[in-house]
Amino acid sequence: MHGLAATISMVAAFGFAAGAASAQDADIGKTLYDDYCAACHGAGAAGDGDMANLMTIPAPNLTLLATNNDGEFPMLKVIHTIDGRTGVRAHGGAMPVFGRVFASTEAGSANPYGSVLEVRGRVLSVAMYLESLQK
Ligand code: HEC
Repeated sequence: MHGLAATISMVAAFGFAAGAASAQDADIGKTLYDDYCAACHGAGAAGDGDMANLMTIPAPNLTLLATNNDGEFPMLKVIHTIDGRTGVRAHGGAMPVFGRVFASTEAGSANPYGSVLEVRGRVLSVAMYLESLQK
């Protein structure tokens, strides 16, 4: 434990903290993506998940979100799409409402403010992971 803390502060001291943090965010995002999104959107997000041929509405290729938006990753739209409780999908859609899914996996969180932040953190982590997959 001591050694780990020392390593972390050394990394921070050398100015790698920002890089390390975003690599970690991407890992969290990838784990969440693999657990919650890959079945429909495919392991590489190309819209070819196992469920894709069972679905009546095709799961879009998520590596082309930037290409389809004049080269700019539509971060806010993606966040709202994943959360599902607000914005573009507020009135329903084919995707599970992950704002609720992610909130309910936080069983026993006594602090509602903390759980709001955790849900937002998860949604953002997945969104940042998707950004990293853009072609
Ligand atoms: C049950 C299958 C299913 C799962 C699971 C699923 N999606 Fe989707 N997703 C869809 C379908 C179908 C659409 C297109 C229709 C719609 O938006 O409702 C879509 C649309 C999207 C879009 C909008 C794409 C565009 O072109 O605008 C994004 C972004 C997205 N999904 C991300 C995710 C992420 C991230 C996860 C996991 C947290 C996820 N999806 C899980 C089926 C799924």
